[in-house]
Amino acid sequence: MSLILKSPIIVLNDDDLGIDIKSEAKLLREYYQDSYQEDNYLLQMQKSNFLKQKSIIHNSDLEVNELNQIAKNKLNSQDYLKYSYIKAYRKRLIAKFTLSEQNNSNLEIIRQPIEYFLQNPSSNINDFKLSTTKRYFKELNEELVTSNLKKLLQGAYFALDKSITRRVKFIEVIVHHTIVYAFDNCDNSNAPEGIHQDGTPYIVSAFVVDKVNASGGVSYLYQGAQHEKFLELNLKPGQGIFQPDLNTQLWHSVSPIKAIDKSKTAYRSTIGLDILPKF
Ligand SMILES: [Fe+2]
Repeated sequence: MSLILKSPIIVLNDDDLGIDIKSEAKLLREYYQDSYQEDNYLLQMQKSNFLKQKSIIHNSDLEVNELNQIAKNKLNSQDYLKYSYIKAYRKRLIAKFTLSEQNNSNLEIIRQPIEYFLQNPSSNINDFKLSTTKRYFKELNEELVTSNLKKLLQGAYFALDKSITRRVKFIEVIVHHTIVYAFDNCDNSNAPEGIHQDGTPYIVSAFVVDKVNASGGVSYLYQGAQHEKFLELNLKPGQGIFQPDLNTQLWHSVSPIKAIDKSKTAYRSTIGLDILPKF
C-alpha cells in the first residue's frame, strides 16, 4: 500500500533547532517532583479498568475516591493489593501559544491562557473516555518558557511552513510537558489509548527531553484504515516527530517504558505540541 500524505513527516532535532537539550533537561528535572501535575484522569482510567476486568463495575464514570471505596469493599485481599499498586505514572503541565510571522520575518510568540484541553473525539480509534473529556491541568510555570522551548516552537512553525503552500495568518500551539515514570507493576505508556491520532491538524507527537534509566518509549507510525505499521523510531533526547495528524491516514503510538535498573527511578520526559494553523 502506498501512502499519500498531505505533507511530510519531519524528524526535528536539537542540533538543527539550536536547542541545548542538556540544559533543558537539567532545568525540567527541578520541576518534575513538585510542579508537574499528576494525571488523575489516567489514574481514574487505570483503576476503573482494573475493576471492570474483575467485573466489579460496569461503567467508567466513577471518581477515584468512589473506585477506592468499591475496591476496598469488593476485592479479595490479593486483588486489593494489586489495585493498591496502581499509581499515577504520568504527570503533565500545559501551555498555549500563538505564533505569527511579522513583516520583518521575525516570529512573534505570545503566551495565551488555557483552561483545559480536549482531544478531538473522532481522532481516537478506541472508545476511550479521555478523548471526550475536558482535561484540566496546571499551566506551565513561566520559568519553563525557555529559549529552548521557543526554538522548538519556531522549529514547528517552520516545519509547518515547509509542509503547506497556503500562507498562515498565525498558528495556535498547545504545549504538553509530560513525564512518564516506569513502575514495576503497571504498563507505563504515554499513549495508553494505543494507536491513535491526537486530534489536531499537525503535531509534534513527542519531542524527547530526557530519558533516564528507561528502555522502550519507541514511537510507531501507522497508515490507513488497517493501521499498517510503516515507521519505528526510538527517539533520543533532542528528537521529535513533526507530522500531519487529524483527518489524515496517519496514526501513531508509543511503546511503554521499562526501568533498566529496577532499583532506581526510571522516566521519559517529553514535550508534545498540538498545532492548529489559522488561515
Ligand atoms: Fe499522541
